[in-house]
Amino acid sequence: MRGVVFECASRTTCSLTTDDAGRDNSSAPLFVSSVDRLQMARDTFHVPVLEREVVSYLSASAGGVVIDATLGGGGHASALLRAVPDVRLLGLDRDPEAREASRQRLEPFGSRVRVIDATFADLRDVREREDDFIGAAPVRGVLMDLGVSSHQLDDGRRGFSLRVDAPLDMRMDPSTGLDAASVLARLDEEQLRTLLARHGEARFARAIAASIVSSRPRTTFELVAAVERAVPPAHRRRGHVATRTFQALRVLVNDEEFQLREGLAAALDVLDLDGVLVVIAYHSGEDRVVKDVLAEAASGGCRCPVELGCVCGAIHRVSVVKASAMMASAEEIASNPRSRSARLRVARKIVP
Ligand SMILES: C[S@@+](CC[C@H](N)C(=O)[O-])C[C@H]1O[C@@H](n2cnc3c(N)ncnc32)[C@H](O)[C@@H]1O
Repeated sequence: MRGVVFECASRTTCSLTTDDAGRDNSSAPLFVSSVDRLQMARDTFHVPVLEREVVSYLSASAGGVVIDATLGGGGHASALLRAVPDVRLLGLDRDPEAREASRQRLEPFGSRVRVIDATFADLRDVREREDDFIGAAPVRGVLMDLGVSSHQLDDGRRGFSLRVDAPLDMRMDPSTGLDAASVLARLDEEQLRTLLARHGEARFARAIAASIVSSRPRTTFELVAAVERAVPPAHRRRGHVATRTFQALRVLVNDEEFQLREGLAAALDVLDLDGVLVVIAYHSGEDRVVKDVLAEAASGGCRCPVELGCVCGAIHRVSVVKASAMMASAEEIASNPRSRSARLRVARKIVP
């Protein structure tokens, strides 16, 4: 555990910090740039989910700027730029391969696009830092299409997929932070149990934690084997037995809980009046955070009885566009199975 602190500030937020400013050079980054490979992968990098819906919610952005806070392969971004001729797009992604792929894909849109290296938790800084691009234009939309791209999952070197044997890395930005194997080497059994329980492994969290500690996996298949040893076949759910363990580890390695809360708050701040925040979540924990943050921004903390209307002076910053999350159609799920778990939520900023 030398130099690593695992903390749970609340029931929903755990984070991992190191005493060397979050950098661990003990394992070399796996990222190796290759323009040829990116060009080949351009069209298969990621199929955007709920593309029609996303573009339609952002279509009133003409004359303004939209921030795509999760560029991925630039699929949503290019669809928007095609649909709304005079919108400009500031795109960010923490993954260098995603930035490179989207730069290439969005090149035909010329000066209407800028691609930068940032995380969405940094959105407020980005607004200031990129002032020469945004200028006086209103920020009319922010898109957050959460989680990992198909490219990250499918790329054998990244360690995100339980179906491809690879070193356990899982960092979206491979140049910073601890990789997943280093995290597993440092967490003790109780810390692992807490992490797994938080991400839905209620029954077998203890057994999986013990199995991981006894083997300290360094590859994806070693981690799958550790989970399989802990969960008896008769008790395995639908889907792969190690799915939730992989997800929990990925969330911790990339500090996703912190990123999401900070990113949502910052997105609501940087939007101009009437701007829309569009968020797609891919697992229930993530969607719950999005739903709660938007509900809180809509109510401003007001608890006045509905019949009375709000008399407490709370500031209702946003209007939630639909109470329930929107999901992909059966047709979309059939053509893109990764859309099955997508939950889309939209809020409009109604107070400057
Ligand atoms: C589902 S993909 C987005 C796909 C994209 N909408 C498209 O159409 O190609 C999610 C992307 O968000 C990036 N990402 C995840 N968390 C991030 C964060 N906190 N800050 C910046 N980028 C992040 C990932 O690296 C990944 O490329």
